[in-house]
Amino acid sequence: MPSRPAPKPVEKGKDSVYWDYWEEMVKASIWRESKELPAIAAVAEIQGKHVIDAGCGPGRLILPFSKIAKTITAVDESDWVIKVVSKMIREKRLNNVQIAQAPLVGLPFDDGVSDSTYCMWVIHHDKSRWDKIVKELVRVTRDGSPITVGFSSGEGDLPRLEEVCKPAHVQKCKEFDVAFPKWCKEQEWSVEITKVPLLFEFKSPEWAFEVFSNTFVRRDITNEQKSQLMQFLKQHVKNGKCVITQELRLYVIRETE
Ligand SMILES: C[S@@+](CC[C@H](N)C(=O)[O-])C[C@H]1O[C@@H](n2cnc3c(N)ncnc32)[C@H](O)[C@@H]1O
Repeated sequence: MPSRPAPKPVEKGKDSVYWDYWEEMVKASIWRESKELPAIAAVAEIQGKHVIDAGCGPGRLILPFSKIAKTITAVDESDWVIKVVSKMIREKRLNNVQIAQAPLVGLPFDDGVSDSTYCMWVIHHDKSRWDKIVKELVRVTRDGSPITVGFSSGEGDLPRLEEVCKPAHVQKCKEFDVAFPKWCKEQEWSVEITKVPLLFEFKSPEWAFEVFSNTFVRRDITNEQKSQLMQFLKQHVKNGKCVITQELRLYVIRETE
């Protein structure tokens, strides 16, 4: 892929606790593997394409998609992610995958080099810069090709659980879910929306509490909030497992003539 000089990498170390528990989230995501990945692969039309994985994280999508896409250029700003993904590329001999360290607001690529760009579970972390990020994703993607952006719609059990300790965050997700497609249309891009139900299955409500309180839920919550969370998780036990739903919203944006 043709490249511009890479911008200076942004120093952002591993939030170790978050990433340790992220692994547990991935393991608990029983529908993610079966439903999320085929849904992204289908709407992003990655089969046989040169794709960009923007905000790739430690490589959840890279490995399965390297078997489908022609090439993957993964981008992330985190030093730790770059280390982990570089190791994975080397060890798994992923000859069609390369990794670049850059902030998504300044991608080190020429205009229109990507046949399909996807950005999963990222822009909800970066709400102050999401418009700049999306414009950058559109810039590097060939005219008429899909740009797929995915994040939580605010529906399902997981947002209810977050509501216990950070209601403003859930409210923002819901507002964003309305504002985002509206803003895309104002840019005169076409937008298609797909809803994907997701399911997490934890071995016990206690383990779900441990995982959530180190990822999505703030760690400095009060004892009352803790007991509300445990009560919520205990109410979601089915066949001995703690089952929590979430809804992924996939937006496919295209630049129209
Ligand atoms: C929750 S992870 C999602 C990883 C992956 N897309 C997935 O679905 O498994 C978010 C990733 O986006 C990266 N990220 C967030 N904001 C970014 C930005 N402005 N520039 C570059 N990377 C960013 C973080 O470093 C992190 O690795």
